[in-house]
Amino acid sequence: MRAKIVVTRTMTDPVMERIRSEFDAILPPTAGLTPDEVIAAIKDHQAEGLLFTSGTKFDASFIERLPSHLKVAATCSVGFDHIDVAAAKARGLVVTNTPDVLNNATADMAFMLILAACRRAGEYDRVVRDGWGKFYGMHEFLGTEVSGKTLGIIGMGRIGQAVAQRARGFDMKVVYHNRSQLPAQLEAGATYFEKLEDMLPQSQILTLHAPGGAETSEIVNRETLALLPRGAVLVNTARGTLVNEEDLIAALNDGHLFAAGLDVFKGEPKPDARFASLPNVVLAPHMGSATFQTRTAMGNRCLDNVAAVLAGRPAGDPIW
Ligand code: DGY
Repeated sequence: MRAKIVVTRTMTDPVMERIRSEFDAILPPTAGLTPDEVIAAIKDHQAEGLLFTSGTKFDASFIERLPSHLKVAATCSVGFDHIDVAAAKARGLVVTNTPDVLNNATADMAFMLILAACRRAGEYDRVVRDGWGKFYGMHEFLGTEVSGKTLGIIGMGRIGQAVAQRARGFDMKVVYHNRSQLPAQLEAGATYFEKLEDMLPQSQILTLHAPGGAETSEIVNRETLALLPRGAVLVNTARGTLVNEEDLIAALNDGHLFAAGLDVFKGEPKPDARFASLPNVVLAPHMGSATFQTRTAMGNRCLDNVAAVLAGRPAGDPIW
């Protein structure tokens, strides 16, 4: 008998095909399932497994409503700050995530935003779309160089390390702040700063790769932004909660920051509308892992975890 599962959002075609052939699944409508619909589907289908994304707030009140026949919940994300770990643990649920498989795609997105913010990709694109119409002087409409700059990385996990690897191809000096220093082999020439305040004055471009949660809440704020050199660029592909958005908007408006590249926001999926009116920000709708290859690998990783648990084996990627 095929295991009964509920899937909250449509996956790539190969993952959907695998779901249909290996599982007895409730599949989502185009818009995905709302939290109430998720609970109802699990109950009606007597499901033992759930595939969900960071779009479902897996908080204590949601977990409390989950029927006891649900054994495993696989989030299709590496981050799990949308999950109340203590409540899930107390409920005896196995919860898994998708580490590793999205490192390259997310690092590529961070680098795309670094280049786009520094080289004004959004503004250039808009000018040409609006008809262009005049030659610019050699001194006009200039970006800021990426090659040779110093890149500050907050959070030197696997994604941070993949960004550092790309930076080396641009002759950048890499400095990083992390809970602990990496072994020399993983540092690959990057310089560790135990104190964030000591790293920031060197960071001409700052990119965020720390997890969300209380420990990292608003680590980018008025005080820390002020420590960046004037004309610095900020990129965030991690979590919107890492940044005090009021302070970021102020720094972009007063020119302390040259630009920002943002893939994540506090109010997702309806971010602060002021970002859209700032010319010096490049924006993306939380798409760090959004390549066909990576999203397929993430979906397969979720299915591997669910299948293992429902067959009585340990999950490959438990979050605790
Ligand atoms: C992740 O994998 O954590 C992405 O940010 C999607 O939520």
